[in-house]
Amino acid sequence: MKNLNVGLIGAGRMGAFHGETIAQRLPHANLYAVADPVPGAAERFINQLGLNAKAYTDPLELIQDPAVDAVVIASPARTHASNVLAAIKQGKAVFCEKPMAVNLKEANEIVQLSTERNVLVQVGFNRRFEKGFRAAHTEIASGSIGTPQLLKSTTRDPKLNRAEAIPEWTIFLETLIHDFDALMFLNPGAKPVEVYAVADALIRPDLKDNGLLDTAVVTIKFDNGAIATTEANFQAVYGYDVRAEVFGSEGMITAGDIRTSSMTRYNHNGVSFDTCRYDQDLLFDAYVDELKSFVDCVNHNKPALATAEDACWALKIALASIESVKSNMPIKLDHHVLV
Ligand SMILES: NC(=O)c1ccc[n+]([C@@H]2O[C@H](COP(=O)([O-])OP(=O)(O)OC[C@H]3O[C@@H](n4cnc5c(N)ncnc54)[C@H](O)[C@@H]3O)[C@@H](O)[C@H]2O)c1
Repeated sequence: MKNLNVGLIGAGRMGAFHGETIAQRLPHANLYAVADPVPGAAERFINQLGLNAKAYTDPLELIQDPAVDAVVIASPARTHASNVLAAIKQGKAVFCEKPMAVNLKEANEIVQLSTERNVLVQVGFNRRFEKGFRAAHTEIASGSIGTPQLLKSTTRDPKLNRAEAIPEWTIFLETLIHDFDALMFLNPGAKPVEVYAVADALIRPDLKDNGLLDTAVVTIKFDNGAIATTEANFQAVYGYDVRAEVFGSEGMITAGDIRTSSMTRYNHNGVSFDTCRYDQDLLFDAYVDELKSFVDCVNHNKPALATAEDACWALKIALASIESVKSNMPIKLDHHVLV
């Protein structure tokens, strides 16, 4: 079988990791082209990797390049949906970093068009590919802890960088969107029905009037009766902290570990271990495995394991959270309210 020619859109922090994975860690894919609107950025990245790939400044030209078989999108959140739609129209499978879209109109359009044209769309919900989260999902789905009753999910980023440049509502649309999806993954088959959110700027209170929210808690009620809480903060001094817990009628499952390894130090100071400081350390394997799975699904015509429909559900919870913060009221997940 011929290797899949992948076109990468966005050569920033996440795009560079994905580009490296495609070029160096996936035996059945080539990094064929890179697009980034910053002049010279795509060329620089291609040169760093020592590749002979094509460079574009216009993502649409990359999508329309007939030699590109599939597209990986790692540009800023608000640029995703239009490129996902453009790729589907060209009949090209898409892996899109989260969030797939920031409004439901575009998210629904992606679901509809990808179904009509039978084009695979996978979304960058990497926790679905993390070994502990994946095992937790399988256990819960098999009924080993009975019916889920209480769920928790946590994301604490290690450091608040470029705080002034963070777009409004990022904590819901780009950070907690992972937790919203993880909670659905860990409560298989259940749908969210009501959301209540509180949020504040506790790390940089001076930026609250500019729209920065760096700390948030969301409660979610599901149609199987389960109640979830999820929280995020942009600056955990001890590292990158991603965990989940599901308590059910017959037991409890936890997933996520901040340790760099199983090594534990016992000495005069007590007991300690080292922690991961970056997402790309903690979730290295998950980032690689989600793209490995994408290439495998495209090459063998299998359904994606993190779908456009999953992205729509996570987005609905994010939009309801925003409505809840604005109104200080619980929000029913009614499509008339959310846009
Ligand atoms: N899955 C995860 O855990 C995870 C982690 C980090 C980032 N992300 C996501 O990855 C995406 C990129 O984040 P990042 O941290 O790499 O950002 P970044 O700012 O480091 O990189 C973005 C890149 O996109 C380029 N760009 C800007 N506008 C563009 C456009 N219109 N079309 C194409 N490219 C454009 C920029 O020049 C830059 O090179 C975001 O959606 C973010 O939410 C996901």
